[in-house]
Amino acid sequence: MPLPPSIHVSSHPLVQHKLTKMRDKETSSANFRRLLREIGLLLGYDATRDLPLMTTRIETPIEAMEAPLLDGKKLVIVPILRAGLGLAEGVLDLVPLARMGHVGLYRDPRTLQAVEYYFKIPGDIGDRDVIVCDPMLATAHSAIAAVDRLKETGAKRIKVICILAAEPGARAFAEVHPDVPVFTAAVDAKLNDHGYIVPGLGDAGDRLFGTK
Ligand code: PRP
Ligand code: URA
Repeated sequence: MPLPPSIHVSSHPLVQHKLTKMRDKETSSANFRRLLREIGLLLGYDATRDLPLMTTRIETPIEAMEAPLLDGKKLVIVPILRAGLGLAEGVLDLVPLARMGHVGLYRDPRTLQAVEYYFKIPGDIGDRDVIVCDPMLATAHSAIAAVDRLKETGAKRIKVICILAAEPGARAFAEVHPDVPVFTAAVDAKLNDHGYIVPGLGDAGDRLFGTK
């Protein structure tokens, strides 16, 4: 069955190459961190493709012209702690003036439910585009909980960037939040009994921060 239309899988060769390096268990934490940041920038490029533009009058050294500029308030990048921090670095490289919000969630290893321990976002989130960064969409409980909370606080235009989704998680997310596009580098077939994506890349937070 085809994936829901809100799930966008990048076919960009650089994204695919970097993801393969990240999956490889021999890749060091330092390289994993660098690759996550680089993929964040490339997926962020896709996710920001439809940001609204206005025009402004400027003078080039040659003559005056009407030129395009981003319209509206600065967008907000929202990493889901911890591993989302590494992905958000890449989006921030792309949009250095963005605001940041943070959602702290961990997965209860027994129930696989998301448990919130931190939530701090800009007050006027309803007026801004929001990009949620969560490297792994496994059961999607974390991403669903984060987007639930952001919507409750007024966010209207939300997108999610992740590097790897499991097909059941991608479908579950699209069912609950069909209005929230997801940009990912790949969709793997399944989860194992511990809720890890198979073949996946392991525990993103542990690999990023070297905490295994
Ligand atoms: C990982 C990952 C996602 C979540 C995905 O976080 O970074 O946020 O799992 O799983 P789900 O789709 O089944 O909810 P984890 O809870 O391991 O926390 P960490 O980033 O602090 O390591
Ligand atoms: N979280 C991870 O870091 N990896 C998985 O495979 C699933 C959830």
